Amino acid sequence: MSSKKRNWKPQTALVHGGTLRSQFGETSEAMYLTQGYVYQTAQAAEARFKGEEPGFIYSRYANPTVDMFEKRMCALEGAEDARATASGMAAVTAALLCSVKAGDHIVAARALFGSCRWVVETLAPRYGIEATLVDGTDIASWEKAVKPNTKLFFLESPTNPTLEVVDISAVASLANSIGARLVVDNVFATPLQQKPLQLGAHIVVYSATKHIDGQGRCLGGVILSDKKWIDENLHDYFRHTGPSLSPFNAWTLLKGLETLPVRVRQQTESAGKIADFLAEQPQIARVIYPGRADHPQADIVKKQMSGGSTLICLDVKGGKQAAFALQNALDIVLISNNLGDAKSLITHPATTTHKNLSDEARAELGIGPGTLRLSVGLEDTDDLLEDVAQALKAAK
Ligand SMILES: Cc1ncc(COP(=O)(O)O)c(C=O)c1O
Repeated sequence: MSSKKRNWKPQTALVHGGTLRSQFGETSEAMYLTQGYVYQTAQAAEARFKGEEPGFIYSRYANPTVDMFEKRMCALEGAEDARATASGMAAVTAALLCSVKAGDHIVAARALFGSCRWVVETLAPRYGIEATLVDGTDIASWEKAVKPNTKLFFLESPTNPTLEVVDISAVASLANSIGARLVVDNVFATPLQQKPLQLGAHIVVYSATKHIDGQGRCLGGVILSDKKWIDENLHDYFRHTGPSLSPFNAWTLLKGLETLPVRVRQQTESAGKIADFLAEQPQIARVIYPGRADHPQADIVKKQMSGGSTLICLDVKGGKQAAFALQNALDIVLISNNLGDAKSLITHPATTTHKNLSDEARAELGIGPGTLRLSVGLEDTDDLLEDVAQALKAAK
């Protein structure tokens, strides 16, 4: 079954999109755990390698289960083509490295997940690709950073962990005006709450490890773009360097996609209520939640997001000690640096996900000693509110 010519709404595309049903007529997608494929004749093998006959060659190149996951993601994102990767970082690295060459320049928003920042700041310069980091929320600083050799813009929105929102269409327009490409890491918004390609971005990347699996089971990633860019820039990199997603993980992620809208809707609804509750607590200095009217970029949220996110950033008064006490007092909410999971998870970015940044770099991003990132899960909203309330009391 192909979703290509069907005008399905996301919830339908996520259940049926991309399904390749075998001769056995299985209802659930088949898991093709194979490395290779058999050809009827030597001539058929030759024709397939020459690209004269369709079909699979080797699972580092493509695999039917992985193919279903890629097609389903395309149907959701409205993208022409996709490549699935073994992790979100494999997707980010491939998208960036396949967009530039030695001598090119990248402009990236400085509020990036730690590993993404390492790729831009440390890995890329080793290969002669320089990068400038800017305040992503200030379009003038993107403009100021542009050089004659700028070929790529990179941003994450909302950002990890302070949930800054970057004006994607403004950055895309600037990229178009200088012939550069824009890569958007859309993990925090999920493919349901923000559509970077519709906003003008050229390439979208996901850590499928987060909401797409959403149940803590496997790593995965995906890159989505137009077919021409994938054919010309990503195709050979994939075949020859092998960041491929395993068929088992692709199957798990396909199952995750079926329930993604239901989970994200419920998690966002709870997150909104918890954010409002936290904002009223005297122990909390600041709550950043894209669904609230007091979000620093509320106008851009309104323009480009259709939901408030499943994540909340909060600053606890009393710094690290108070933030640790609050985490330790939580009962349902678990201490973990993952996000987008069915289980509510909390982390202290300064000592975990962003520990490798200098104090100054963290301060620049608004990550203080009392900052916590809460990923709201699928538990009952009232139970979660009660847990947060009792932890605040206990941590006083
Ligand atoms: C915004 C963002 N991008 C990329 C990644 C990397 O994803 P993965 O852990 O699947 O490699 C993460 C992981 O936390 C993330 O938060």
